[in-house]
Amino acid sequence: MRHLLDFSGWDRARVAALFKTARAMKEVLSRPIKTVPTLKGRTVATVFFEPSTRTKTSFELAAKRLSADVVSFSGSSSSLKKGESIRDTLLTLAAYGVDAFVIRADAAGVPHQAARWLDAAVINAGDGRRAHPTQALLDAFTLEEALGDLEGRKIAIVGDILHSRVARSNAELLGLLGAEVWLAGPPPLLPRRPFFGARLTARLEEALKDADAVMALRIQKERLSGGRLPSEEDYRDGYQITEDRLALAKPGAPLLHPGPLNRDVEIEGTLADGPRSLVLRQVENGQAVRMAVLYHLLARRAA
Ligand code: CP
Repeated sequence: MRHLLDFSGWDRARVAALFKTARAMKEVLSRPIKTVPTLKGRTVATVFFEPSTRTKTSFELAAKRLSADVVSFSGSSSSLKKGESIRDTLLTLAAYGVDAFVIRADAAGVPHQAARWLDAAVINAGDGRRAHPTQALLDAFTLEEALGDLEGRKIAIVGDILHSRVARSNAELLGLLGAEVWLAGPPPLLPRRPFFGARLTARLEEALKDADAVMALRIQKERLSGGRLPSEEDYRDGYQITEDRLALAKPGAPLLHPGPLNRDVEIEGTLADGPRSLVLRQVENGQAVRMAVLYHLLARRAA
């Protein structure tokens, strides 16, 4: 694996190998001293042209747990504001001897472009609506912890499917792992065509019925053009995951959300904090899964 941009070229064996490493990383994270020397002398740059809490902090912690040096870059406080281009910004950071770039951008394709410009490994930390592969990896890892093998499992993904790179990457990865993925949301927030073999429906009940797990997605207000969604109240009425609606899924089916949550919009508040919610487990697993990604990209790569 030279870069992690999306899941093209992946198979189940590669996912299994990465998850095996992630389980080993979880064991490291359970120790009183949570640091190992695996990537000592390596440098990881987190380059975020768009805001992030979970992805940025977990990648930075993951790199530090593996003893790599970390360069943390945020577009909003950089010379981009003075007109420097993305390419020149990346080449400037590369001159420090960076081994891996973790890149988030609001435009689709920026990490792919970066992989052409740079000798270093590039990890896509979310590009526009296109892909967010490490989020899908940590989601699938969390689902496997909860459900075991995902072959034949029905996973309902609910919310703003149209704008969601998480929905796309999850449909791609969960499909690869043999799950039956359902994508549900209000018609203005659904794509015209389904992707990666997932089923698309505006009927929430159809997606939730007998689901093994339910994942709610954030309404991406920053990507909505005016008038697409009438109001938060309409969304709550039709698509909020409530106790009653979750009861349509299999008994005990877990509830996930990649975050950040719009509290009391996508999920009823008590459910988000309740025993069926895996939201903080997803965050916890994000660190171990991202350690595994850095390990697979860098540990065996020549410095
Ligand atoms: N899930 C996710 O990508 O969260 P952040 O935007 O906080 O990184």
